Amino acid sequence: MNRVLVATGGGDCPGLNAVIRAIVKRAAKEKNWEVVGSIEAFNGVLREPTEIVVLDEKAVAGIHYQGGTILGTTNKGGPFAWPVKRKDGTWEEVDRSDEMIRKLQYLGIDAVINIGGEGSQSISQALYEKGLNIIGVPKTIDNDLVGTDSTFGFQTAVQICTEAVDKLVTTAASHNRILILEVMGRYAGWIALNTAVAGGAEICLIPEIPYDINKVMEKIESRFNKGRGFTIIVMSEGARPVGGDFARKETGEVGYHNIKLSGAAERLMNELKSVGCPYDIRYTVLGHVQRGGVPIAYDRVLATQFGVKAMELVIEGRFGEMVSYQHPYITSIPLKDAIKRYNFVDPDTALIKTARGIGISFGD
Ligand code: F6P
Repeated sequence: MNRVLVATGGGDCPGLNAVIRAIVKRAAKEKNWEVVGSIEAFNGVLREPTEIVVLDEKAVAGIHYQGGTILGTTNKGGPFAWPVKRKDGTWEEVDRSDEMIRKLQYLGIDAVINIGGEGSQSISQALYEKGLNIIGVPKTIDNDLVGTDSTFGFQTAVQICTEAVDKLVTTAASHNRILILEVMGRYAGWIALNTAVAGGAEICLIPEIPYDINKVMEKIESRFNKGRGFTIIVMSEGARPVGGDFARKETGEVGYHNIKLSGAAERLMNELKSVGCPYDIRYTVLGHVQRGGVPIAYDRVLATQFGVKAMELVIEGRFGEMVSYQHPYITSIPLKDAIKRYNFVDPDTALIKTARGIGISFGD
């Protein structure tokens, strides 16, 4: 019997469970493959005692519509940077990758499927270079991975944000207010851009197009001058003024290497006040609501396609690859090509033109 280990790494994302279920169901069609899962990314392999669970059809029955991941996940540490507390109470990071590969051999693991974003796929590539039979499955609500047309979870996040805009419109209109919605996406503006178009926002601020606060104010004035006394602004957590930096905060969490973006909407409100904006302003930071709950049908379908393809790559022995959606095909690309750069919004992309075409201002 061959054994494949599945791990989910990085921030959770609607659709992860649908991928896990699809892997198990596809493996069940073979006589010689069984599936196990590592709890909390690769921590389950590295911990003592090991935390590995059997994933059979019973274990994954009906999980395709559940949010989160039944395996748990983490965006801290990992096999190449395992946090260890020194005697003096400070922390150091230890490379446990060789030990992990030995442990996988000991556990009889023939292949690994690592479901995760850019950080997780960089780990996949590094493990592949060390000789591990590994396949990557792309995951992120941010849609910032290159090498795949889209990732599951993104459309669900956009849906959640759009529903939030729908709600903000009625209260903004009732109070003649400016309402700012800050959404996730890290350094990519895809969630904000899609939400602004779907929700009918007047202003959309994204990291790829730094905004001029005076231009933002001009657009607001044009709204209020027309007598429609309210404005909806959808902004990315990574949006920044011309010449300004990302709004961020320290988390102080051990092993957390990401920059925590935070405070963009509050900063924008203060900037508007400082240029004399006379209207009431409120802001909403949607936060992790965007990653929670059930995946919409589109994401369940894409996740299922990714899971089946990942298992087929394992069966074919095509390691070092990442599953990829390249319309209309579910295919794969070398992991090394998937981690080279990010998929940012090109200011000339079609959806930006569409947004400008319906009068959305990007503050530029
Ligand atoms: O990458 C996914 C994402 O949700 C980003 O949009 C966001 O900046 C970040 O993760 C939040 O990370 P955490 O869950 O560590 O707060």
